[in-house]
Amino acid sequence: MAPPIPSPKELAQIPVDWIEERSGLVSGHKYLLFRNVPKDISWLQTLGSGLITTFLIQATTGVLLAMYYQPTPDGAFSSIQYITDTATLGWMIRGMHKWGSTMFVILLFLHMGRVFLMGSYKYPREMTWVTGAVLFLMVMFMSLTGYLLVFDQRAYWASVVAININGSAPILGPFIAEFLKVGPEFSQHTLSRFYSLHMLAVPGGIMAFIGLHLWLVIRLGVSSPPWSKHRAKAGEV
Ligand code: HEM
Repeated sequence: MAPPIPSPKELAQIPVDWIEERSGLVSGHKYLLFRNVPKDISWLQTLGSGLITTFLIQATTGVLLAMYYQPTPDGAFSSIQYITDTATLGWMIRGMHKWGSTMFVILLFLHMGRVFLMGSYKYPREMTWVTGAVLFLMVMFMSLTGYLLVFDQRAYWASVVAININGSAPILGPFIAEFLKVGPEFSQHTLSRFYSLHMLAVPGGIMAFIGLHLWLVIRLGVSSPPWSKHRAKAGEV
């Protein structure tokens, strides 16, 4: 007897089962996205997801900008002008990246404020807080390194001041300043260094730490607000 003809639903299931059997990705994504959360959480608990979305927008628009940007003292500003005035939708991509960076910092402060004020950093979420603090430093460093890349007078002098402020820190200050400048003086290498840090090193670190941060959030679950009636009893999480 001929085997029964599979329905469209069964047919669609075949590649899904194929992937699941070999990688576990299908059940893995359910583990990531379908989790229980406390009954009385609110929009305040979506700030973290807002940060992930903003990071993805920054990464995408940053890659598009890098297709035209030239990290040289002669080419940087003119390539920015080309992106803004000539490249297709360049003005929009640049605007999204610029305003996205502001949103990123605002959301970062709001998210950090919310986890602080709700006491969500307490046991057992100390490591979530520490990985968040590292993320905070890296995002601040992205702002510093990104600011120079426009390479107009404002960007140049703001970066000189920022490097000098870093240089005045005790013990490590001079080393940090020299590392950022690539030597004792501000030069063309400074721009290349800022570009490489802004494009590759720091975003890589941010990605790794977002992964770690989220793994902890998933492992421990989102905390209940302090006023919650369903709040866990002492000793529970
Ligand atoms: C790129 C930066 C960051 C991303 C993408 C991010 C992402 C997230 C997400 C998605 C959550 C779960 C949902 C929520 O509570 O909003 C979360 C929770 C948390 N985050 Fe962040 N976060 C970032 C920065 C920070 C910073 C700067 C801190 C503090 C220094 C921090 C500390 C925490 C803590 C303690 C929790 C647990 C909250 C709870 O269980 O209620 N995060 N984060």
